[in-house]
Amino acid sequence: MLIDGHGRTVNYLRVSVTERCNFRCQYCMPEKPFSWVPKENLLSFEELFLFMKVAMDEGVNKIRITGGEPLLREDLDTFIKMIHDYKPDIDLALTTNAYLLPQTAQRLKDAGLKRLNISLDSLKPEVAHKIAQKDVLGPVLKGIDKALEVGLGVKINMVPLKGINDDEILDIMDYCKERNIKVRFIEYMENRHANVELKGMHGREILAKVKERHTIHALGREGASPSFNYELDDGYQFGLIDPHKHDFCENCNRIRLTAEGNLIPCLYFDEAMSIAKSVKAGDVQGAADVLAKVLKDKPKENRWSEDNPNEEDISTRAFYETGG
Ligand code: 5AD
Ligand code: SF4
Repeated sequence: MLIDGHGRTVNYLRVSVTERCNFRCQYCMPEKPFSWVPKENLLSFEELFLFMKVAMDEGVNKIRITGGEPLLREDLDTFIKMIHDYKPDIDLALTTNAYLLPQTAQRLKDAGLKRLNISLDSLKPEVAHKIAQKDVLGPVLKGIDKALEVGLGVKINMVPLKGINDDEILDIMDYCKERNIKVRFIEYMENRHANVELKGMHGREILAKVKERHTIHALGREGASPSFNYELDDGYQFGLIDPHKHDFCENCNRIRLTAEGNLIPCLYFDEAMSIAKSVKAGDVQGAADVLAKVLKDKPKENRWSEDNPNEEDISTRAFYETGG
């Protein structure tokens, strides 16, 4: 079992396979970065997998593949199959913008993928275009249908932004309800790469919108999930991911690995340690040592909850390096 310096069990590893993305979401990657990570700095699937085996052997039983947009990485289904074959009962999920799902969903499912989290911020073509800065809605909706059709579990993520898509909270909820899938509203997290003009909605403002039409019952956090769950009178459940709330980090169970091999204990802070050298040398013990050190130093909590967080503390790392 992996236990961090604050006594929390860590059983969840998020692995970013590329920072590249085919969208330019205003809250994540409003502009193409000055340069992408050079190809030679990306870890191969074998190298990533060497570390993942160490983590799985020591107690990680949940893995999420992220990006950028992970479906841009070639042969992703081969990587998924490697993980699945090593531990068939692992909770294996992927976060995607769904754009490439129409042509990939079946292969992902066949490779052993169980679940998808899909970003859907609007059901209006022009608003979806405004957020992702590309005409994306058609393929995204097709991608969601395809994922459901092949039998992948689906959850929807929506980031409500003031004056942009805040009037669609109930519509997105209805869309999800009709398909019997869960929606999770995510508070916009301030970061140095996002469009500076964006204003996110606080969890209580999001809930107020839902309450305009529904009675809601608080269910609480489900285990170590960052999502606080609510139920409507008709039994439909949705989630709110509220990193600005001070108890958000209490049960944090996760660490993140970037495509270059940086192991990140907390999204909020810059701190990271590289496993690249160890995995390139096939040094299993070296990788295990880095993992132990990162766990020991994992911060107790982020600082989004503070009223006036010190700008300097916020990580310079982009969300597209870590997949949120
Ligand atoms: N704030 C909140 N959520 C974000 N994501 C990316 N950037 C941000 C941000 N600044 C989330 C999106 C997307 C997932 C990949 O990461 O919800 O679904
Ligand atoms: Fe790409 Fe996802 Fe970032 Fe949007 S949020 S730019 S889809 S990585």
